[in-house]
Amino acid sequence: MTSADLPEPQVRPSDGVPGSGGLVDRHGRTATDLRVSLTDRCNLRCTYCMPPEGLQWLPKAEQLTDDEVARLVGIGVERLGIREVRFTGGEPLLRPGLVGIVEAATALSPRPEVSLTTNAIGLARVAPALAAAGLDRINVSLDTLDRERFKQLAYRDRLDDVLAGLAAAQEAGLTPVKVNAVLLHGVNDSDALPLLDFCLEHGYQLRFIEQMPLDAHHAWTRGRMVTAEDILEQLSAAHELTPDTEERGSAPAERWLVDGGPATVGIIASVTRSFCGTCDRTRLTADGQIRNCLFAREESDLRTAMREGATDDELADRWRIATLAKLPGHGIDDPSFLQPSRPMSAIGG
Ligand code: 5AD
Ligand code: SF4
Repeated sequence: MTSADLPEPQVRPSDGVPGSGGLVDRHGRTATDLRVSLTDRCNLRCTYCMPPEGLQWLPKAEQLTDDEVARLVGIGVERLGIREVRFTGGEPLLRPGLVGIVEAATALSPRPEVSLTTNAIGLARVAPALAAAGLDRINVSLDTLDRERFKQLAYRDRLDDVLAGLAAAQEAGLTPVKVNAVLLHGVNDSDALPLLDFCLEHGYQLRFIEQMPLDAHHAWTRGRMVTAEDILEQLSAAHELTPDTEERGSAPAERWLVDGGPATVGIIASVTRSFCGTCDRTRLTADGQIRNCLFAREESDLRTAMREGATDDELADRWRIATLAKLPGHGIDDPSFLQPSRPMSAIGG
């Protein structure tokens, strides 16, 4: 089904009838988890995300200001039932106003849970300030512990900065510190075990993410993807994995107890075991567009509306309408699947 087949939304901002309630779509899901991209820039060039030369960055004028971000997050939390806010990028630590933005989010009522997904470069310096601003948790992207492979994968020699950032997050109490890893065939596909052992040793929670077709150069193919099954096979060679029976809810990671627990390892099998049916996400890009899905082909422009003087009620209604049209699934396996025109770094993970 395409969005063109869907009936028109019932409420339009011009109706003058402010909607009410949360971010509900036509398939009965409610979005309560907001991902906010604070910049499309990054200081790494992970091959599954960005080309080595970087991308055409958003012009400053199109990027939301700190106050605009805070206003939209406030509308999400106070009017639309958002309970969890995660700041992402690009690399969110490159956003000069990050600490103030986190402070504004944690001051909201009801207080949302606030977390950050980062590559951890520079985190060693700012982790204490982020914790003081009320940040609850951190997710760090780390795909290998081998310095040469890190350079090959991310085009920068920054492994030591990442490791220092991880340690600082733990030290500052931004726990549980989670580590996200993406495995690529022929590059770091043998790194699953070393990553697990490292995370077990340091008390970090490791999650593998199946590579999704969100790379800037559209080079993804399903055949070259390292699947959840491949990863389980590798890990099982050295550890006993038993399914974690704790309620999964809308969490995308399937979890396994490692050697009887309490440590766990997670796999986010976005492609081979998709979880779109329980998705509770909504996304705000750095330039103020609402995306109801990572793979959405349409966006709703809150920035222009806001700059033209829209009220909080009107912005909330636009957000509700953008949510209604959320498709039931990402359709990666559908022959008509089209990769979104924005890469992951410009959407926010
Ligand atoms: N597929 C899967 N995960 C990705 N990430 C970035 N691009 C992709 C992709 N194409 C990961 C990053 C980060 C998280 C936000 O998403 O490694 O941990
Ligand atoms: Fe940067 Fe994250 Fe993309 Fe890597 S995956 S290039 S760290 S935005």
